[in-house]
Amino acid sequence: MLHVGLYGASFGSVWITIRALVALLDRAIVRLLPAVPRPVVQRLSSRYIAGPSLDDAVRVVRRLNAKGKLATVDVLGEEISNPDEARAIAGQYHDVLARIDAEGLDANVSVKLTALGLELDTELCRENLEAVVLDAAARSNFVRIDMEDSSTTDRTLGLYRALSEAGHANVGVVVQAYLRRTADDLPGLANVRLCKGIYVEPVEIAYREFEAVRANFVRSLESLVADGAYVAIATHDEHLIAEGLRVVREAGLGREQYEFQMLLGVRPDRADELVADGHRLRVYVPYGTHWYEYSVRRLQENPKLAGYVAADTFRRAFGR
Ligand code: FDA
Repeated sequence: MLHVGLYGASFGSVWITIRALVALLDRAIVRLLPAVPRPVVQRLSSRYIAGPSLDDAVRVVRRLNAKGKLATVDVLGEEISNPDEARAIAGQYHDVLARIDAEGLDANVSVKLTALGLELDTELCRENLEAVVLDAAARSNFVRIDMEDSSTTDRTLGLYRALSEAGHANVGVVVQAYLRRTADDLPGLANVRLCKGIYVEPVEIAYREFEAVRANFVRSLESLVADGAYVAIATHDEHLIAEGLRVVREAGLGREQYEFQMLLGVRPDRADELVADGHRLRVYVPYGTHWYEYSVRRLQENPKLAGYVAADTFRRAFGR
């Protein structure tokens, strides 16, 4: 017994050491990820992206719908550099809305304002956005405006508010729980996706501590629900899913008055459970040829990144 006990103790400390090393390696890889060759990033991130074409997105949405999950389709396009590219992305959104309509899919769209031209010309972006929102309205569909880094927060909320005040009811926005300003941004927002936030922001404007972000998420959720907003609870964090369930239960919300959201390729089994328990669950489905920046962000938040990179390196080295 003593022998087994000692063996167990030393195995335990070896295991803790291995986990500490993997955590160190993870942090190093996160920093070095921009130096990882693009084909490797593409292979590792394939679970997060439907594929390069609209057909790929449609195939994935059909599969999700068959499992009782809703979808929101994102045309990847953050690297645009001229107005024609922004118009082309807007054009792709019109194609997405038409396909959703034609195929009877249960899906809406998510747009990034920089992809619609925000950094080139705010007016161009507003025109592109409004055209997509009008097209969606004509098809009884909905447009979610993603939130990007903090340099875009004011302009994004401003465009959302302008559209809402102009009477467009089929548009919603995103707020990030890591931003200290979020509590002040909430009043008046009618349809909100609440997430932690993924961009690297200065500590003066953003909470860095894990628990502080969680606490602000819960506070924001409670405040939005109390104000009667429709909230999309976008998280894979078990603690926040549990808090989300608590808040909607205590507020007595019906199934149509909130939804959970997750990213394609992340915790699909937990998503299945939420659907089985009767909750609406929407999966974020990105597709397109501009996959790189989105992929890097997803890989950087993947706790198993070091393992994936090691396995991929092994496969390439030994051809297996
Ligand atoms: P956390 O990061 O703590 O993850 C909880 C657990 O989920 C992890 O421990 C792990 O098990 C799993 N997990 C999370 N990410 C994973 C990954 N990539 N691979 C594998 N496992 C993973 N952000 C933003 O700034 N603007 C936006 O508009 C959006 N939009 C958006 C839409 C939707 C539908 C979701 C779900 C998320 C976003 N986000 C976002 C991203 C969001 O801000 C946040 O970065 C991620 O959701 C990760 O945070 P979690 O709340 O999941 O917690």
